[in-house]
Amino acid sequence: MITISKVKFDREEIQSILKVIKSGSVTQGERVEEFEKNFSKYIGSKYAVATSSGTSALFLSLLALGIGAGDEVITTPFSFIASSNAILYTGARPVFVDINERTFNIDEKLIEKKINNKTKAILPVHLYGLPSDMESINAIAKRNKLFVIEDACQAHGAEYKNRKVGTFGDLGCFSFYATKNMTTIEGGMITTNNKKLYEKLKLLRNHGSKTRYYHDILGYNYRMTDLSAAIGLEQLKKLENNNRKRVYNAEYLSKSFAKINGIRVPFIPKDYKHVFHQYTLLLNKGIKRDEVVKKLKKAGIMAEVYYPLPIHKQKLYESLGYKEKLPVAEKISKAVLSLPIHPYVKNQELKQIISGISSALS
Ligand SMILES: Cc1ncc(COP(=O)(O)O)c(C=O)c1O
Repeated sequence: MITISKVKFDREEIQSILKVIKSGSVTQGERVEEFEKNFSKYIGSKYAVATSSGTSALFLSLLALGIGAGDEVITTPFSFIASSNAILYTGARPVFVDINERTFNIDEKLIEKKINNKTKAILPVHLYGLPSDMESINAIAKRNKLFVIEDACQAHGAEYKNRKVGTFGDLGCFSFYATKNMTTIEGGMITTNNKKLYEKLKLLRNHGSKTRYYHDILGYNYRMTDLSAAIGLEQLKKLENNNRKRVYNAEYLSKSFAKINGIRVPFIPKDYKHVFHQYTLLLNKGIKRDEVVKKLKKAGIMAEVYYPLPIHKQKLYESLGYKEKLPVAEKISKAVLSLPIHPYVKNQELKQIISGISSALS
């Protein structure tokens, strides 16, 4: 089976973990600091704060900006649920703006209609590894005095106008979950250029404590371990090369799929660098997606749907009173299909995927 993702560690990660284990210092310490330094250098931010997950990175970012009950945060309904659940955790209300039909990211042209005096921030998601339109989003934020938190959990190394995502907003959040473009198994990172936010995030991550057993504010335990950071340091070194392989695989598929009727390949606007966390096709109306998935499975190809139900239509959100229709997200979620393009997919397997799709659609 050609799996949709593959988690693979080499000698470097194993040796790096062993070194930490043998040292006896396994909790948050020097390796975490080194990982933060190297990650912020790679992204191009002044500071970085490692966390236990992408979800905790988002939650702490919102808290650091003082967002809470009575506030509203504008975001996309077409993402992994963590993007908006992090807003709920703070007591604030996620306000959903429909997506762009071509990029699948938040439609910046619709954002301003949803801004009112409760709105505190915009939280765009760089879905599948494609940046959101950060110039437009930042301009809207500036005009309306809003914060911007980038959900870059799927977009390590993605670029917008030659600048890496995670450097556009007040804060950028990354996930190092096992299937991401780079991993610490579970883990996250917040990037920022703002020293005050950086200091606040470090307090929030560690029970509000700068000095052991002295607690200045209400904080949490969302620390990363040195063991995770040791893996992350090695994975970071491999990120560019692995992203290149993802892009190669994606381009290979897109070239061949251009001749096949009934599907639309991923769209990459000019000046955007897509890092293909996912390679996602849009199926034409009338194509039965479940049938295609079944046929591909029979042909040894694992295809997945990210995400079959937009966030505002999830039971949790309906129970919170969300009733609004967001037609583009609702339509797109019924027609997307992701195929394997991870760095370990071989040329021969790409050919297998192409013939699998051709016969599934014929
Ligand atoms: C877009 C998006 N946001 C947030 C998250 C949450 O990250 P984590 O699973 O590390 O908590 C994920 C990852 O799963 C994600 O894909």
